[in-house]
Amino acid sequence: MSGDRDAAGEIRARGLAAREDLTALEATARAIFGEGERRPGWLARKIRREAVVPGLSVIVFEVGRPEVVIGYALVGQPVSLPGVARTAGVGVLPGWRGRGVGRLLIAEVRRLAAAAGLAGLEVLADGRSRGFFAGLGLRERAASWTLLAAGLGLHAGPRGRARAWEQAGMSAFSEWLAEAWTGTPEGSRWSLAIGGGAGGVAHVSAEGRAWLVQRLLLPPRASGAAAVVRAAAAVRAYAPRGAPTLLYGCPAGAPATAALLRGGWSRVQEGFVMRAELGDDL
Ligand SMILES: CC(C)(COP(=O)(O)OP(=O)(O)OC[C@H]1O[C@@H](n2cnc3c(N)ncnc32)[C@H](O)[C@@H]1OP(=O)(O)O)[C@@H](O)C(=O)NCCC(=O)NCCS
Repeated sequence: MSGDRDAAGEIRARGLAAREDLTALEATARAIFGEGERRPGWLARKIRREAVVPGLSVIVFEVGRPEVVIGYALVGQPVSLPGVARTAGVGVLPGWRGRGVGRLLIAEVRRLAAAAGLAGLEVLADGRSRGFFAGLGLRERAASWTLLAAGLGLHAGPRGRARAWEQAGMSAFSEWLAEAWTGTPEGSRWSLAIGGGAGGVAHVSAEGRAWLVQRLLLPPRASGAAAVVRAAAAVRAYAPRGAPTLLYGCPAGAPATAALLRGGWSRVQEGFVMRAELGDDL
């Protein structure tokens, strides 16, 4: 399969240029995923946080017309996942779905990742796109949920400084990516030492009005459901009153996740890590 080959007689894929103008991509992303709470520069921020590599990322456009992006796959190479390419967004314009654009995108991503010597491709699917990736041969490895509760605004005061992703002796209950944490600007991330650290540490970032817990760490010998519920309640207590407070990456079906759902948190997103081995792609 070649990046320059015409796939369906009318569309082509090409790798993203190192200095690609992101304006066209932003427009496509908005048309696919909606405006949401996107602020200026959100795509550049996403690209930095998810360690996106232009040479592994792909756009699809129509042949013989001024280049309009009809689908894209942003692909990163997070250092926390050695040897693995990981998608940071895959989408096709609504009017172009069901015509092989998504299939072409993933085929080209696989080709580029295999050519770069990577052993695997991971995607983060949601409930709607899971079947698409499964149909292309990707296997489900893990499922996680994002939970939401409103901030209670019970404590005001200075935010702690941002601490290292890893905290000695502590283990993570829920998490996003280490590189997303370090890639979040200093001014919009901080770490809450719950009970002075005895109750855990929450790595938090401000995403517009929302508080996003990028990692919730628990101290040694405190990994049970009750400890998770207490730590999550502490985060809520510190979050501004009414601010959406999000716990990203809670293990689906885990006893502590179930306890949070019984305790006032609700599930707002399902994520499925799906993987293809690339050994046979070369
Ligand atoms: C998911 C998405 C990328 C698929 O792109 P697409 O161009 O419509 O997919 P294709 O036309 O290449 O379809 C390839 C195959 O997958 C199947 N398929 C497509 N979407 C599917 C879905 N949601 N569930 C199950 N199968 C699906 C197609 O029927 C086709 O199968 P076939 O070749 O056996 O007929 C597109 O629907 C999209 O952009 N959705 C919104 C954004 C999104 O969910 N992104 C993924 C998570 S970040």
